Amino acid sequence: MRFHTRKWIKPQDLNPNGTLFGGRLLEWIDEEAALYAIIQLENSRTVTKFMSEIDFKSSAREGDIVEIGMDVVKFGNASITLRCEVRNKMTREVIITIERIVMVSLDDQGKAKPHGKTEIEFVKDRLKN
Ligand SMILES: CC(C)(COP(=O)(O)OP(=O)(O)OC[C@H]1O[C@@H](n2cnc3c(N)ncnc32)[C@H](O)[C@@H]1OP(=O)(O)O)[C@@H](O)C(=O)NCCC(=O)NCCS
Repeated sequence: MRFHTRKWIKPQDLNPNGTLFGGRLLEWIDEEAALYAIIQLENSRTVTKFMSEIDFKSSAREGDIVEIGMDVVKFGNASITLRCEVRNKMTREVIITIERIVMVSLDDQGKAKPHGKTEIEFVKDRLKN
């Protein structure tokens, strides 16, 4: 799993309990999944279709640094299925896991569009060609 994005927990990210607000974390995860899928599928019209059970295992406090990791579970026809883990950057304590996030590549009519991808690619390798 690659951890690309780091976030710093600020006062506006907290719930009334003084810990990280779950909705904020889900927003960050959804954006990270979208960015990951758009880059992999090379289609900016890629949307979130499905998220499996969300398991908040621990929390984070103001000033903590968290990192968001993504991995590919499966390349489908029009979809890509991702797995997500968020952890505390300093302690490595896991904050949340989501086993399946399904992102779907769309055409300009908003219909599912086959992406033709079968494996993880790196932008630097694409640029060599
Ligand atoms: C994404 C969307 C076009 C898919 O439409 P659809 O009629 O289900 O399309 P398909 O049946 O062709 O399925 C497309 C892919 O999604 C997958 N899929 C569909 N429903 C799914 C579900 N409930 N769970 C997991 N995957 C699902 C299919 O397996 C298929 O994958 P594949 O092509 O890799 O085999 C449509 O549901 C949609 O527009 N949803 C709204 C998405 C959106 O706006 N998200 C932003 C948040 S609001």
